[in-house]
Amino acid sequence: MAVGIFDSGLGGLTVYDQIARDMPDLPVCYFADSAHTPYGTRTADDIYGLTCGAVGAMFDRGCNLVILACNTASAAALRRMQENWLPRDKRVLGVFVPMIEALTERNWGDNSPPREVDVKHVALFATPATVSSRAFQRELAFRAIGVDVEAQPCGGLVDALEDGDEMLAEALVRSHVDALKRRMPHPQAAILGCTHYPLMQQTFQEALGPDVTVYSQANLVSASLSDYLNRHPDMYGEGQETQFLTTGDPRQVSDRATQFLRRQMRFEAA
Ligand code: DGL
Repeated sequence: MAVGIFDSGLGGLTVYDQIARDMPDLPVCYFADSAHTPYGTRTADDIYGLTCGAVGAMFDRGCNLVILACNTASAAALRRMQENWLPRDKRVLGVFVPMIEALTERNWGDNSPPREVDVKHVALFATPATVSSRAFQRELAFRAIGVDVEAQPCGGLVDALEDGDEMLAEALVRSHVDALKRRMPHPQAAILGCTHYPLMQQTFQEALGPDVTVYSQANLVSASLSDYLNRHPDMYGEGQETQFLTTGDPRQVSDRATQFLRRQMRFEAA
């Protein structure tokens, strides 16, 4: 297939949905590792092994470029994959960098030295594995100086969203925002650092208040992908059909995905 989009489960569909709106003619291969979700409570070694397995399967199906639409895999595995594992003619891109470039008011791919930026107090909401990797702070430090980041591990939220339990998800968002605000009462910006969380963007915004700018990844990743493909047309890969693959039960995953995106979705066995 053409461009691969990978997530541990359904969260990457928020990124897929935006890409499909922005580039309706782009065929994609979406891969949900539903049999092993959530990744956010696993060790870095475990996440690395699972992510390499899934991305390798997408390369075998003809993808040249895979977007890790999963912050946990981007945080815990991407750098190691690029250094030790990635075949020379293939690319894997994560979802952190486009968001940090937007937060630090940079053009896509601007690698000039770190500089002072307007935003000084940033709240990061992410999975426990993403928070403990400190990958967000590391990538931010390459681009900005003097930014204070307070990170909140949002235990339970991915499971609630994968199970379609919106009431539990809402209660968890409010309690995680309260916990964050006890440590950082007045964040200027909040990063939804998990691709499942845009589904709860309104609840995050309400709980944080109207003065906080909430950044979510879907539109930023889609815009940076479009820019990347313009610069690297060889990365389109083969294949003309969009496909949704899962390591879980295709019927159950299709039902949950239909509920998640509020339109008919059909997954096949990976
Ligand atoms: N959507 C994934 C992310 O962005 C979810 C991680 C998980 O499986 O816990 O981190």
